[in-house]
Formats: sequence, C-alpha cells, structure tokens
Amino acid sequence: MIKKCLFPAAGLGTRFLPATKAVPKEMLPILTKPLLQYAVEEALSANITNMAIVTNKDKRAIEDHFDQALELELQIRGTQKEELLKEINAICNYATFTYVRQKQMLGLGYAILTGKPLIGNEPFAVHLADDLCILKEEDDNSVLYQMIKIYNKYQCSIVAIEEVPINQIHKYGVIVGDLIDNTNDTYRVTNMVEKPTPKNAPTNMAIIGRYILTPDIFNILKQTKPDKSGEIQITDALLTQSKQGHVIAYKFKGKRFDCGSIQGYVKATNYFAKQQGII
Ligand code: G1P
Repeated sequence: MIKKCLFPAAGLGTRFLPATKAVPKEMLPILTKPLLQYAVEEALSANITNMAIVTNKDKRAIEDHFDQALELELQIRGTQKEELLKEINAICNYATFTYVRQKQMLGLGYAILTGKPLIGNEPFAVHLADDLCILKEEDDNSVLYQMIKIYNKYQCSIVAIEEVPINQIHKYGVIVGDLIDNTNDTYRVTNMVEKPTPKNAPTNMAIIGRYILTPDIFNILKQTKPDKSGEIQITDALLTQSKQGHVIAYKFKGKRFDCGSIQGYVKATNYFAKQQGII
C-alpha cells in the first residue's frame, strides 16, 4: 500500500519572478486553485491521505493553505462565498499534512532525501506540482493511481514517462528500457541520463514529475555523488537502483502541462478555462 506522497516544494521558481518573489511557485493558481492543491487532489484520488511536503523558510503560505482560516471563515459564514472554501476545507479535514524544511538547494535527489523523516521505511509516491496532469478519457484514473497499479504488480520503483520532442529533451531525465508489457506501456529501465543534450540523448522518453519509490532509495541517495552542477539527482540514484534490481518506466495515460514554464502554465490555464466555460 502506498500511503504517503512527498511533494518537493522548496524550489525558488525564478522563471515566474516577480510573481514568485513572495508567493511560493507551488501556490500559483490555475484559475482559482493553486498548483499544489491540484497535486494533493491527485494524491487523494490515488487513495493517499498522508501528504509530506518539503518546504523552506519562505513557503509558509503552503502550510496556511492546507489549514483552517478561522478569521476568513467567520467573515464569509452564511454567505454564498462559503461554497468557495468547501473543497479545500474538505481536503484539510480528510488528509494529514506533514512538513520538513529544506535548507540547501542541492537538487531533486537532495529534496527527496530531506523528506525521509516524513516517510520512514515504506514505499511512497513523489509528485512534482509543476507537472500538472489531466485525464484524456473521463473514465481514466489519475497518473498516481495508474502508477500504484503498476507498483502493485512489480513492487519496485516506478517512473512515469512521456515521449517529448528531441529539442526539449535537455529539460528532463531520460530513460532507456526494454518493453516488458505493451498493453501497459511498461519498460524495464536499462539506462538513465539526467538532462542530456539532444545530440547525446539516448531516447526521447522523458521522466515526468511522478515517481513511486521504494525506501532503499534513501540509502542510495545518501551515497549518490553530486553531478557537475553540484546537484544530487534522483535520476542517478534510480540508475543505481535499476542496476541493483529493477526500475520500471511507465508511459502514463493522460496529458501533461509543464507549469514550470510560462508557456505550459498559460496552456493549462486556457485548458481549464475552456473546460469550465469561462472562455
Ligand atoms: C526534475 C528531474 C528530471 C525530471 C523532471 C520532471 O527536473 O531532475 O529528471 O525529468 O523533474 O519534471 P527539474 O524539472 O526539477 O529541473
């Protein structure tokens, strides 16, 4: 059973300055809902109720968002506006939120390692709120839900992948793998490279911001050396794990918006606005 989801949320979000000067990038809204709320909702849809968030000293707005806002609630009590807080209040009451603060910016692998005290010794999900995924078919399940199904079958770490244009590959971790189940689009990973140049990219199969990790990843991360840029990469740790046992890559069903880029953020906003009949 996967009961916990880790949300690395200590990044600076410099691409969105000045908006992210005082507002955490995970709190930027798509319409009226912050990215991190979409993320938490995805975890809930995969029956995960324990949200473990890696923050830093400038991200207190995140903790406040997933807590009661008594003064505000008092002010709008009895008005139609109460309805607007219904969804988030239900989430706050249903899920448990735990936090740890990251003090140094040393890469995604380091952020995940920082979350260890919140996770303990059990398999867990990792969700990067920048990658906002929607379903293609109405009766599809969320990406994390799909991945947990794959995890239940293989009991090893799982990464979600997507084929991207080769001129975009430098933004991603990339996998090489053997197709083991074409009904499920699952691959056994044989190699992984973090952010290759298009010329050096072994494939165009990019890792997106969803992982199921087995807890041995923490010890591997501790021993993973920083890369050229001084960052500890989860991709490098997963490569070690794939050599020690198995790592599975899964081509998820759905559509992803890269909300870490302004273009992707605008596309996501347009998608949701159209879907809700706003434009
Ligand atoms: C991180 C990972 C990368 C992965 C990407 C998915 O990169 O390091 O392997 O492909 O997330 O969004 P970042 O976007 O933090 O630079």
